[in-house]
Amino acid sequence: MKHLLKMSDLSSEEIIEILNLADQLKYELKHGIKHHILEGKTLGMIFQKASTRTRVSFETGMYQLGGQALFLSSNDLQIGRGEPVQDTARVLSRYLDGIMIRTFKQQEVEDLAKYGSIPIINGLTDYSHPCQVLADLMTIREIKASFDGLKMCYIGDGNNMANSLIIGALKVGMKMAVACPEGYTPDVIEDDYVKNNADFVLYHDPCEAVKGADIVVTDVWASMGQESEAAKRRVAFKGYQINSELMRLANKDAIVLHCLPAHRGEEITEEILEAHADEIFEEAENRLHAQKAVMVMLMKNKEDE
Ligand code: CP
Ligand code: NVA
Repeated sequence: MKHLLKMSDLSSEEIIEILNLADQLKYELKHGIKHHILEGKTLGMIFQKASTRTRVSFETGMYQLGGQALFLSSNDLQIGRGEPVQDTARVLSRYLDGIMIRTFKQQEVEDLAKYGSIPIINGLTDYSHPCQVLADLMTIREIKASFDGLKMCYIGDGNNMANSLIIGALKVGMKMAVACPEGYTPDVIEDDYVKNNADFVLYHDPCEAVKGADIVVTDVWASMGQESEAAKRRVAFKGYQINSELMRLANKDAIVLHCLPAHRGEEITEEILEAHADEIFEEAENRLHAQKAVMVMLMKNKEDE
């Protein structure tokens, strides 16, 4: 593993390796065990979109591993004034030990990896959000003990989260049901890996999709960059809300995950979010541990292995 660009780049074994290390780092943090694994290393964090969790968890995670992180807003970088990604990649590779980037186009992240010579981590694009899904998988395994026999159900927009959750769930051996309106289906359903996978089912009826689910997941109806479509989307997604009526169709002990930020009253009700707050905020915490594992695997010195 040289980069973390999207979930489909990871093998099932690599996902489990990341989750195992994340569990270990979480345990060690809670028991006061300090690390210097990334001492002297610098992570550059390029943000072309807003962030609370990604920024704070990467920055804190880097400090906890003995390294440092630089917040690089695209408003201040020359990239925001049109300097090409291939030049930015080659320059930053000479200063930094890794780059985390949150941007719009997946191609930009792929190009950073292609032209740079340091590990690149995708901190969200319109297409994928692999760091979030690694934290989600970590949370599921923590609560359910294993992925065996579990069914995940995603209700809502076929966005970056849907794309990454589908691949992540299938790679760890879960069944995956997705319900979204016509015209809002996730891009990855066209991938051979998903198309030919008997464990994946696409629905347009949330009630059908959620039946017997062990994990119910949703995300905002209008993602960052789609703000002008918010009103149209509220109409398109009516009926795709996670509420108590829908949850009655899931398994009794089903958990609910949401990557946050949540729009209460749209994709999820206040009641369901609060009833499942322990799971949802554990999921948010696990961003820190999962990303520390990713950084260790990508950025530690080879001689330390
Ligand atoms: N879930 C997530 O990526 O949150 P932020 O947008 O706050 O980073
Ligand atoms: N789909 C959302 C996820 C936010 C973490 C977005 O892209 O805005």
